[in-house]
Amino acid sequence: MSFDFLERFEKSAISRRDLLRYGGMGVGAFATGGIARALAPRKIDVHIQLIASNSSAQILSGSATSTYRYTARLLSGPRQTLKPIPGSFLGPTIHLWKGQRVRIDFYNQLAEDTVVHFHGLEVPHNADGHPLHTVAPGGSWKHEFEVVNNAGTYWYHAHTDMRTGFQVNKGLAGLIIVHELIEEKLGLPSGNFDVPIVIQDRRFNASNQFIHSTGSQLGHLGNYICINGMFGQTLNIGTRPYRLRLLNGCNSRNLKVAWNNGMPMTVIGTDGGLLNQPIEKPYLMMSSGQRRDIWVDFSQYPVGTQIKLVSQAFDRGGAGSGTPAQGTPMDLLNVNVSQSISSSASLPSSLASFPIWQEANAVNFGNERTFALEYMSMWTINGNTFELSNYTNDEIITMNQLEVWEVRNDLIGALEQPHPMHFHGPQFQICNRENTDPGTWYDTISEGFVDEGWHDTVFAFPRERVKLLTKWTKHSGLFLYHCHNLEHEDMGMMRNLMVVP
Ligand code: C2O
Ligand code: CU
Ligand code: CU
Repeated sequence: MSFDFLERFEKSAISRRDLLRYGGMGVGAFATGGIARALAPRKIDVHIQLIASNSSAQILSGSATSTYRYTARLLSGPRQTLKPIPGSFLGPTIHLWKGQRVRIDFYNQLAEDTVVHFHGLEVPHNADGHPLHTVAPGGSWKHEFEVVNNAGTYWYHAHTDMRTGFQVNKGLAGLIIVHELIEEKLGLPSGNFDVPIVIQDRRFNASNQFIHSTGSQLGHLGNYICINGMFGQTLNIGTRPYRLRLLNGCNSRNLKVAWNNGMPMTVIGTDGGLLNQPIEKPYLMMSSGQRRDIWVDFSQYPVGTQIKLVSQAFDRGGAGSGTPAQGTPMDLLNVNVSQSISSSASLPSSLASFPIWQEANAVNFGNERTFALEYMSMWTINGNTFELSNYTNDEIITMNQLEVWEVRNDLIGALEQPHPMHFHGPQFQICNRENTDPGTWYDTISEGFVDEGWHDTVFAFPRERVKLLTKWTKHSGLFLYHCHNLEHEDMGMMRNLMVVP
C-alpha cells in the first residue's frame, strides 16, 4: 500500500473540499470539531459495504478449505481504502485516515447470526459490534463512526456471543490500518516496506477443513501457522529497513515472538499506535488481539540470508485444547533476504509525543477498580459471567475522569492461565506490572512485555497484577470488556461497562 505524495494530496484535497462545503465557518471552527458538527452533520468520507458470507480458500495442497469470509466494496471514498490480500482467507485490509467519517454497511449472508467488531477503534456503542446488535442471516447493520484513533494497526473480527472463537477461526477477521499525516512525516518504511504480519494457528481435518475445539474452556490451539491468511508463506525482503505490523490473531495461542538469529525486536508501536520512542526487547510476549509494530533493518544481511520469525519456549502458558501446547517453540515465518535495495531510511529516535499519565492523578488513586480473573466452573470476572446487557454498580464508568484499574490474575493451581484482558473503548496506558510469584518460570517471559504506549489488550500472566490508567472521553453507553482468549470469551469471560456522561 503506497500512499505517495499524490495520494496524500488527494486526501488533503478531500478534506479541504469538505471545509469549503461548510462555508461560512472558519477552518478553525471545523478543525476543533464539535462546533462545526453541531451546526451541520458531516458527510461520510468513506462508505463501505462489508459482507460476511460462505467462501473457500486454497490453504493446503489438495482440497480447498470452506471458510467464512469478509468481502467489501467501496461505495465512496479514497480508492486505496480497501486492499484485499490475494490468496488469503482473511478479509480485505481497510486503510483509514484519522479524522475520516466512516460508514460501514454490514450484511450477514451466513446461515448463522454474526456481528462485526472493530478492535481497538474507539467508536460509538451502536458501531462497536456489541452482541446486542447481532445480525440475523440475511440482515444488516449500519456502523457509523469517526476515526479518532492514532495511526496504527487495528483489526476487525466477528464478535458473536458464544460463537466468536468459531467464526474467527473460520476466517472472519481482517486488518485495519489507520494513517495520519503526522506519522507519514516520520518517514517510516512505507508502501512495500510496510508489511502486516497476521499470525494465526489453525488445525485441519483429513479433508483440509478447519477444526475448532468447541466447548473447550481452555482455548483452541492449532499446529499450522498461517500468516496473513495463508499457509507456508515466505517473506522476500530487500536489504533495507522495514516496518512489520505484527498481530497475534490466534484464538488463544500466546506467542513469544523473536528472531531466530538473536536480532533484538525493535518496537515502534503497540495496540494504539506509535510509542514515544522505539524500545528494544529480546522477544515480545503477544496475546491474542495484541499488535506490535516493529522496525527491522535487513541491510546488515547479504542477499541469500534466511531468517526466521519464531515463537520461543516459555512457561505457564496455560492449558489448551489442541497441539502443540502453549509455550512450545514454533516457527512463524521464513524471511528471505532476496534482493539488494539501498535506502537512507533510519529509525527516528522520537516517534509520538503523548503525555504519560500518572497514577497519582487518577480520581480513585489508592482505591483502584479491580478486575479479578477467576474460575467458578466457568471463567469469571469479579465472580460474574457475561449477560447481554447487564452490568453491576462496579461496572459504571464516569466519562472524562482518569481512573486506575487493576487486572488481577491471582488464580493458583491446575486452572491457572494467562488472560489477555481487552477493553473496548479508549486505548489505555499501563502503569504497573507485578508478579507475586516470580521465579525461573517468570524469567522466560518477563522481558517480553511492552507496557509503554497505548493498549487495548493487556496480558496478565498467572499471579500477575497489572495496573492501567484509562479515561473515557468520547462515547457513553454500553461497552464490552473480556478475555481475548476467544474460547474464554465465548464461555462467559466477558462483561459490560456502562459509561455515563
Ligand atoms: Cu478483539 Cu471484543 O474483541
Ligand atoms: Cu475490541
Ligand atoms: Cu482468559
